[in-house]
Amino acid sequence: MVDPFEELPLRDELRGMTPYGAPQLDVAVRLNTNGDPYPLPEPVAEAIEKSVRELVRDLNRYPDRDAMALREDLAAYVGHGMTAENVWAANGSNEVQQQLLMAFGGPGRTAMGFSPSYSMHPLLAKATGTSWYDAHRTSGFNLTREHAMAQVRVFQPDIVFVCSPNNPTGNSISLDTVAAIASEAPGMVIVDEAYFEFGREGTRSAVELIPQFPRLVVTRTMSKAFGFAGGRVGYMIGRPLAVEYVQLTRLPYHLSSLTQAAARVALAHQTALLAQVEAIKAQRDRIVAGLKELGLTVIDSDANFVLFGQFKDTKRVWQTLLDAGVLVRDPGLDGWLRVTAGTPEETNAFLRAMGQLPDGS
Ligand SMILES: Cc1ncc(COP(=O)(O)O)c(C=O)c1O
Repeated sequence: MVDPFEELPLRDELRGMTPYGAPQLDVAVRLNTNGDPYPLPEPVAEAIEKSVRELVRDLNRYPDRDAMALREDLAAYVGHGMTAENVWAANGSNEVQQQLLMAFGGPGRTAMGFSPSYSMHPLLAKATGTSWYDAHRTSGFNLTREHAMAQVRVFQPDIVFVCSPNNPTGNSISLDTVAAIASEAPGMVIVDEAYFEFGREGTRSAVELIPQFPRLVVTRTMSKAFGFAGGRVGYMIGRPLAVEYVQLTRLPYHLSSLTQAAARVALAHQTALLAQVEAIKAQRDRIVAGLKELGLTVIDSDANFVLFGQFKDTKRVWQTLLDAGVLVRDPGLDGWLRVTAGTPEETNAFLRAMGQLPDGS
């Protein structure tokens, strides 16, 4: 309870909310946030140091407001015939999503997502004054064409968020379903592909749908597959008009020259950085197989994390794992926990701790 003398005139819709964040506990094996366990390879780190060192002398100058060179590099990485005009970058994909909500949502407008999904989507909506509708998934956290279209038809939202691969469930939805949503949606469709690079063989990107659907945009990030979370670079891919409109909501010079330069070096070393994705996917698959062997229900994952259950007392299982030195995420879904794929040693520790859970957990 805040002392009435100290109280401040916060906006009503933000009252009672808590800022985003997972517990930061000092534990040997931390598998509760979906980051990359590996530091940048030494040659990449050195190349970034060199480019930043050269730039430091120019910090008296503002950066390139339009981040053209970075957008060109990102477009080349994305492929599918995209150019810099199709790409917009900001400090993490969360900032891009906030900018999209400011441009296409806002007071008097609505956004919706298919719950359970990434908790920042409703939070960003509320913070931008956009009303939020929680739509639902079917059993096994799936989303069929018919179910998704029916909910879009009922809610008629100005913005639909589709997270694929979905956080916290790890599964992707088919391109067919994304296309069905886009054909039904009266407004913008934002496909959050933060974990795209971790998809299993055959996973297709919604970028393929951009030529067909002018109101569809895809957001991606360098935080996960590139192991560049501290660099804060996320981006969106869409039609040039979407990129033009979203720029109306950017802050001037929002992306520092150091960020732009470091991200360009990371992209130039994409082969070395993305090699680590394969190592993480191998651990993810080990976790899925290991948990299934223990008789648990596991959602097949296209991400760098796995949702598993179903437990009678989720909080107790979470605490037992923590007591064994393994921190996993309680995503607030009754009966389920989420674990991030890390190093082989971390997988060993996690599966060992899981194997020691009391019967009937
Ligand atoms: C689904 C999803 N989208 C977006 C993000 C944000 O990533 P960033 O802002 O680092 O690009 C995350 C981070 O956890 C995520 O899980």
